[in-house]
Amino acid sequence: MVSYKELGLVNTREMFAKAVDGGYAIPAFNFNNMEQLQAIIQAAAETKSPVILQVSKGARNYANATLLRYMAEGAVAYAKELGWEHPQICLHLDHGDSFETCKSCVDTGFSSVMIDASSLPYEENIALTKKVVEYAHKFDVTVEAELGVLAGVEDEVSAAESHYTKPEEVIDFATRTGCDSLAISIGTSHGAYKFTPEQCTRDPKTGRLIPPPLAFDVLHEIEKKLPGFPIVLHGSSSVPQEYVDMCNKYGGNLPNAVGIPEEQLREAAKSAVCKINIDSDSRLAMTGAIRKYMAENPSHFDPRQYLKPAREEMKKMYIHKIVNVLGSDGKAE
Ligand code: G3H
Ligand code: 13P
Ligand code: ZN
Repeated sequence: MVSYKELGLVNTREMFAKAVDGGYAIPAFNFNNMEQLQAIIQAAAETKSPVILQVSKGARNYANATLLRYMAEGAVAYAKELGWEHPQICLHLDHGDSFETCKSCVDTGFSSVMIDASSLPYEENIALTKKVVEYAHKFDVTVEAELGVLAGVEDEVSAAESHYTKPEEVIDFATRTGCDSLAISIGTSHGAYKFTPEQCTRDPKTGRLIPPPLAFDVLHEIEKKLPGFPIVLHGSSSVPQEYVDMCNKYGGNLPNAVGIPEEQLREAAKSAVCKINIDSDSRLAMTGAIRKYMAENPSHFDPRQYLKPAREEMKKMYIHKIVNVLGSDGKAE
């Protein structure tokens, strides 16, 4: 048993309470490799922003669960080396799909876990979430649960359509499970294709897709039912056009990729939404930068040569999110 406290990590309780009060949101960035982690920590250290490092089941399979955990531990030391005196870094399991996965993370140094039982019937979602909460809370590990279904792929669970969270269920769900935060469905979805072209309108000048707005009415209903309770938004990449264009210009093929407009995320961050999940934007920044570098330097073959600009592009993107979208800069001096 390794406690996250020994590793210098923090759970989400205090960071969420401050974020809800302060009208900003904590960035939850997924990572699978060293360059993403370096970029996240550099961005958080430079802006003094609390940060959540997210590890999905896919990331654990790709990079190795043990290695990722030690990388997060190293991230705390690296943050201090960069001059961030009191780093507030949380290591979080993203989309945990079973009690066993959540338990293994609690036992090996995670400070927060998500149990995603949103695809199960309501009572089964409650029962599994409650079981995870009871175990995690013994070790002061916080638990995120999910109610409602996001369209698209949630690790191995995929849904053709989203089903918005029902506000009338949230009090019962939060009370009976004892979860610390709740991921809701209000129209976001995972990946770089959040809406079909048919669901969007087109900007007459640029021809670009304009997605439909998020269901802020549902969010506000939920806030009224659970005042001050931490709400989480998954699927919150904005799919920046510059990265889509960069990918496509240098040999990629990402037609009609579309994300959540940043103005809407900015608005959400001011509400009870206190954790905003971003993965796809990092993938796009990295892939765009690598494609560009490769196309412009066909004779280079040292991975450091093309991973360095990719890391810089991700760092720039993370800083932009922290400062201009979530407003979490300066909140962890
Ligand atoms: O919610 C999904 C995250 O973007 C993680 O994706 O399961 O491919 O690592 P992944
Ligand atoms: P994006 O695919 O929009 O980046 O969402 C990531 C996410 O929700 C991770 O859990
Ligand atoms: Zn997610």
